[in-house]
Amino acid sequence: MKAVILVGGEATRLHPLTYNIPKAMVPVLNTPFLEHVVHYLSKHQIKDIILAQSHLHSLQSYFGDGSHIGVKLSYVVEDAPLGTAGAVKNAEKYLHETFLVLNGDIFTDLDITAMIVSHLERKPKATIALTPVDDPTSYGLIETNAQGRVTRFLEKPKWSQVTTNMINAGTYLLEPDVLNYIPPQANFSFERGLFPLLLEQGKPIYACPSSAYWIDMGTPEKYLQLHKDLLTGKGSQYGFTSGDEVLIGDQSYIHPTAQIKGPTLIGNNCTIGQKVKLKGPVVIGSGCTILEDAVIEESIIWRNVRLEQHVSLKNSIVADNCHLNASSLIEDSVLGSNVTVASGCKLEPGSRISPGTIVEPKTDS
Ligand code: GDD
Ligand code: MG
Repeated sequence: MKAVILVGGEATRLHPLTYNIPKAMVPVLNTPFLEHVVHYLSKHQIKDIILAQSHLHSLQSYFGDGSHIGVKLSYVVEDAPLGTAGAVKNAEKYLHETFLVLNGDIFTDLDITAMIVSHLERKPKATIALTPVDDPTSYGLIETNAQGRVTRFLEKPKWSQVTTNMINAGTYLLEPDVLNYIPPQANFSFERGLFPLLLEQGKPIYACPSSAYWIDMGTPEKYLQLHKDLLTGKGSQYGFTSGDEVLIGDQSYIHPTAQIKGPTLIGNNCTIGQKVKLKGPVVIGSGCTILEDAVIEESIIWRNVRLEQHVSLKNSIVADNCHLNASSLIEDSVLGSNVTVASGCKLEPGSRISPGTIVEPKTDS
């Protein structure tokens, strides 16, 4: 079976991490997010994968034809973003049999193989995976009848409209003839376009509910949560089990006086200096330098980041090539790439710093 992964649209909710890279290339456990998704599909024997991109991204230069990771990748690129369904219509030439569609920002252990079995038994036009969430207002709410047939689809409902905690998990099995309902080269979505249209026309859509691990990593809070979950053994695929493991990459140097509490993942070519304290869950990307007495707690650091002496970083995300000067204090914040924080600077908790910014201490005037 072929799968289409949706890669694109707006990634503004993940800013400042996605000003200059697509959401799909954001690292998760030091590996591009999309690579995890491809491995997940591959585990379910889905190895013919089409990446439906809204813009030309750097994906192809990284993934190539996919052969080095054991899959076949094809690429389609929209002239202008076509929406979720329009993006699949744009890949129509590849889709002649039942196929799978995945939102490209979902990390899940959902059992696709079981979903395929259920779809092939019931033979509807579409089967939609459902997952329970605490706040359905950020997602597509789906109502079903006692037989599991979808009766209503309500994208981003208001709280007053919430009738269930089950939402669209962004994973669909579709019959190729549904493509006939999607206008070519026009912006059209599954959520507000195709699914409500199929329901209106009485076409069968079934739900496949699951309580497997599931998260949409499309906001900094969820991105951080995803890391904490994976490092503490949720999401069965990733090998962190005990919650206190420490993994250190090749050519990385850890000073003997550094204290590392797991779960912590350190990439290749890193230097962790004297008396540095890492309090997991922590992820440090390749090429990072963490100098004396710095403290990093529950944070994700991308590549080539430098923390000078006595920096304190807590519950934050720091993108590539940032430089945090001595004694700076960063908590509950997200730093885009190439940010410099001056010595002694204390960021307001909740800060979102755009790429390339130089943050200076506030001066009283
Ligand atoms: N190629 C392409 N073109 N991809 C797109 C486009 C587009 O124009 N627009 C969005 N996408 C991709 C996004 O990159 C993402 O992978 C996926 O489609 C869903 O878009 P989001 O912007 O992340 O939507 P959402 O999270 O608000 O809501 C969707 O996902 C929820 C589950 O996380 C909806 O499908 C909801 O119904 C669903 O509950
Ligand atoms: Mg999303």
